[in-house]
Amino acid sequence: MEKLLSRIDRNRIPSHVAVIMDGNGRWARKKNMERIEGHRAGSLSIERLMDDALDLKIKCVSFYAFSTENWSRPAAEVNGLWNLMIEFFDKKLPIMIEKGAKVHHSGTMKKLPKNVRTRIEHAVESTKKNNKIILNFCLNYGSQQEITDSVNKWIETRKENEKITIAKIERNLYTNGLPPVDLMIRTSGEYRLSNFLLWQIAYAELIFVDVLWPDFGKKDLYNAVIEYQKRDRRYGGI
Ligand code: IPE
Ligand code: IPE
Ligand code: MG
Repeated sequence: MEKLLSRIDRNRIPSHVAVIMDGNGRWARKKNMERIEGHRAGSLSIERLMDDALDLKIKCVSFYAFSTENWSRPAAEVNGLWNLMIEFFDKKLPIMIEKGAKVHHSGTMKKLPKNVRTRIEHAVESTKKNNKIILNFCLNYGSQQEITDSVNKWIETRKENEKITIAKIERNLYTNGLPPVDLMIRTSGEYRLSNFLLWQIAYAELIFVDVLWPDFGKKDLYNAVIEYQKRDRRYGGI
């Protein structure tokens, strides 16, 4: 591990890492366990990544935890996921506070169960002055919905003949105020974005790994950062 760490250039750490945490169900199936056990194991990976990101001085991590499309899963799984999230915030909020993490939520609150909503609101409120790291939990998040919501918000205040601009769209995204995404990681060997941060990853480096999310650990993060630092980010220049 030390050897991997020594290959990381501390001056070029990605500011914002976004993760599509995929593969919990397959992890459980491989072990002959219920899918929910995969999600439970996945929540331990979230904790690990929070610590490892802090150590690397990554400024912001976005966790894709529930998509607007995940409502199509059986009710028992959806409810199981909400219960795990409640448990996660109840257990981990004191630790996040202690570590100086600021909790941010991306997504629509509307459809979220009330007991989940109150946890998120409480976590956001009680960490708002923290500045060591931003933990952006994307819950009931869909990128297409986000962009649509943003344009609709702007329309409400729109003056006659006023045109939409990139800056105006950005201002009303759920991620307003977060640093631009530098690195996007998807686990589980799927090569798609599944409606995650489509606007924000315009110039992010994308890394797809075969590891299933519950198995994702420090070594995988270090390898992703090493790979990220090898990339030549040209932003359309030469
Ligand atoms: C990711 O794991 C977690 C969520 C989408 C909530 P999955 O549940 O999608 O796991 P697989 O893809 O079925 O293995
Ligand atoms: C993406 O995973 C959503 C989250 C990780 C929360 P999915 O498992 O829902 O994505 P698809 O259905 O395979 O594209
Ligand atoms: Mg999946």
